[in-house]
Parts: sequence; structure tokens; C-alpha cells
Amino acid sequence: MDKVYLAPMAGVSDAAFRHVAIEQGADFTYTEMVSAKGLKYGSAKTESLISFAENEKTIGVQFFASDPDALKAGIESVQARYDDRIALFDINMGCPAPKITSNGEGCALMRNPELASRLIKAAVSVSKKPVTVKFRKGWDDRNVNAADFARMAEQSGASAVTVHGRTRSQFYSGSVDLDIIAEVKRSVSIPVIGNGDIFSARDALNMLETTGCDGVMVARGALGNPFIFREIKYLFEHGTEREKAAPREKLDVLFKQAALACGEKGERIAMRQIRKHAAWYFKGMDGAAKLREAAVKLNTLDDLHMLITHISASFAL
Ligand SMILES: Cc1cc2nc3c(=O)[nH]c(=O)nc-3n(C[C@H](O)[C@H](O)[C@H](O)COP(=O)(O)O)c2cc1C
Repeated sequence: MDKVYLAPMAGVSDAAFRHVAIEQGADFTYTEMVSAKGLKYGSAKTESLISFAENEKTIGVQFFASDPDALKAGIESVQARYDDRIALFDINMGCPAPKITSNGEGCALMRNPELASRLIKAAVSVSKKPVTVKFRKGWDDRNVNAADFARMAEQSGASAVTVHGRTRSQFYSGSVDLDIIAEVKRSVSIPVIGNGDIFSARDALNMLETTGCDGVMVARGALGNPFIFREIKYLFEHGTEREKAAPREKLDVLFKQAALACGEKGERIAMRQIRKHAAWYFKGMDGAAKLREAAVKLNTLDDLHMLITHISASFAL
């Protein structure tokens, strides 16, 4: 089984970012979350989320849905077109955003395990590939049900689960609860992927050792830092820490990601999206505050090239 996963991240984990994450050692990648309803109504924006990086042999397609029929239709439509490139279908039952939960989707499903079960069964009934589920610790501190929810998912036919050890009401605050991930692991016999607060290779090792989980998933720790994957792999393989990426390499990988994104989406859209990635890559570099200011003004790949040339000259990289 794959060990190190790049998390699905709406607005972030596009094909260009996944490409550099795979190059840096991510074993498995997912699309950004795809609306089953959006696919049903032929939304071009939703369709565009199902794309592939050149070095991505297969992918997990993540859906969010509250209607079992829409989910079935979404899976069938993706499957019909991209069958050989799909490794699995994942169902998002962890998203905390009000615009998702207010429709009964995402983490709202943790309060409605009966519907969650119907969704999983519906997906399994049409999918030729494994169906997996990603969810949280629970809705809030008084409703911590990840272990029961995992058992429900297993009984409904899920092949693996990913657990983010925070409740919905925490959003991203506080720290991840590794005990709940350990409890989920003890509660099911399908693989469990642990997720939450992996910002270093040591965090990943700690997640594995503390919870007994089968794989680790990284989201925010990979922002502007796809190098975290090779650091994790190195620690797993050698038991010692690998050197961090030097600024020069960071800039080269940022440029590569930007060029790939431009090729995929066109320069105008891609460069608007790359601004936030650039700011993340600049974090921790000399003059980072000024560089972040420059990042928000990037309009073209040439702008980025000039900025990188300027940074390299200023700091003798
Ligand atoms: C910008 C952003 C977008 C996200 N989009 C998704 C998504 O589309 N699907 C999903 O299941 N989780 C999504 N998440 C949640 C992450 O996959 C992950 O569960 C969460 O960030 C905890 O992991 P971390 O501590 O490594 O960031 C998103 C998180 C972030 C920061």
C-alpha cells in the first residue's frame, strides 16, 4: 500500500502542484474535491478539476455529494471517460465549510451516518474501483464519532478511510488528536490513513508510530513545500533527516509548477492562482515579506522569471 499521500485541496492541488509533489516523492494524489451535482449539470469548472499530471499514472477522484443518485452518475461519467487512470473514488465527509455543510455535504454527513452509508453503498454499487471515505474526528467535542463512523464506512463497503483528527467545529484550530486516529485504526480492518498537522518528516513518523495508521496524508505542510514528501520518505527509509531544500531549488520548482499551470489553464488564470503558491514558497526565505508583496503582483510567467532572477542576484543564490 502507498504510504505518503498528498491531500485533496480545493483551489490548491491542481495537476501542476500534484506534478511537483509526485516528483518530490508523494506516492498518491487526489483531485481537488469535485461536486457530483456540478458534474451532473455539466459545469465546465467542475469538469476541469478532473485532469491529470503528466507523471500521474493514476489518481483518486474525490467527490462531495449528498444525493446518492448524483454520486452514482458522477462516478459512472468519470469512469466511462478515464477508467484506466482512476485508482479509487474518495467521498468527502470532512469538509467544514458552511457552504458545503449547509447542503448536507462534507462533514455534515458525520451527523447523518445513515445517509453517509447510503452514499458509500451507492458509490460501491457502480464503481469498478475501490471507494474510500475521508472524514474528521466528529462534528464537535460533544459528538466525537470517528470510530463508529469508520465502522459504518467499512460495513457499507469502503476499502479505506482517511481521518483528520479534528472536529468540524475546530476547522483548523487547536491541534490534531492522534488518539482518535489510533482508535479508528483499532476499530476497523481496512487501511486507515492518518491526517492532520504533518509539517515535518518527524510529524509523519510520529503519526505512523503513535496511531498505527497505514499511511499518512499531508495537506498544509505541502503548501510551497512539496519537498516534505522526499523528507518524509528519507526519514522512513534511513531513520535520519534529509537536508531541507535550498532557496535556489525552491525557486526552480516554483517556476516549474507555474509553467505547468500555464500550460494547463492558460497564463491569465494560472498566474492569478500561482500568486498564493509563490508566497508559500517564499516563506522562510531572506526578504520573505517583500517577496510576498511582489508575489501578489505576478501576472505573467515572465514576471515570475524576472522576480526569480532578481531574488537570485540579490541573495547570490
Ligand atoms: C486550502 C485547503 C483546501 C482543502 N480542500 C480539501 C478538499 O478539497 N477535500 C478534502 O477532503 N479536504 C480538503 N482540505 C482538508 C485537507 O485535505 C486536510 O484534511 C486538512 O487540511 C488537515 O491536514 P493538514 O493538517 O495536513 O493540513 C483542504 C485543506 C486546505 C488547507
